[in-house]
Amino acid sequence: MENSVYVREGSQGLGIGRALLGALVDAARAAGHHSMIAGIESGNAPSVRLHRRFGFTEVGTVPEAGLKFGRWFDLTLMRLALEG
Ligand SMILES: CC(C)(COP(=O)(O)OP(=O)(O)OC[C@H]1O[C@@H](n2cnc3c(N)ncnc32)[C@H](O)[C@@H]1OP(=O)(O)O)[C@@H](O)C(=O)NCCC(=O)NCCS
Repeated sequence: MENSVYVREGSQGLGIGRALLGALVDAARAAGHHSMIAGIESGNAPSVRLHRRFGFTEVGTVPEAGLKFGRWFDLTLMRLALEG
């Protein structure tokens, strides 16, 4: 399963992302899922940091995965084992 967390501009940096991701991880564990994957634009330091805090580790990078604002962005894949 894959997560996606978005906090409205102006409300970021207040702990909302941490609360949302924590609730998602808890719910995924309770539902018996094996692992959770996050696909994060590689330069998105707040999101990489948020996921690391919950124990996600980087498992790969897709180079030039998407074109945004006229330039190519890499995608960092992070994974959290939910069992064991
Ligand atoms: C990434 C996002 C979900 C984080 O949610 P948030 O509510 O802003 O973050 P929180 O306040 O819960 O903080 C979570 C961690 O990110 C860090 N962080 C938050 N804003 C940051 C910033 N501007 N620069 C660096 N680190 C930042 C915090 O320090 C915290 O790490 P810590 O617990 O080790 O101190 C949110 O900023 C967001 O929606 N960004 C735009 C959309 C996006 O990138 N979504 C994720 C797609 S994968």
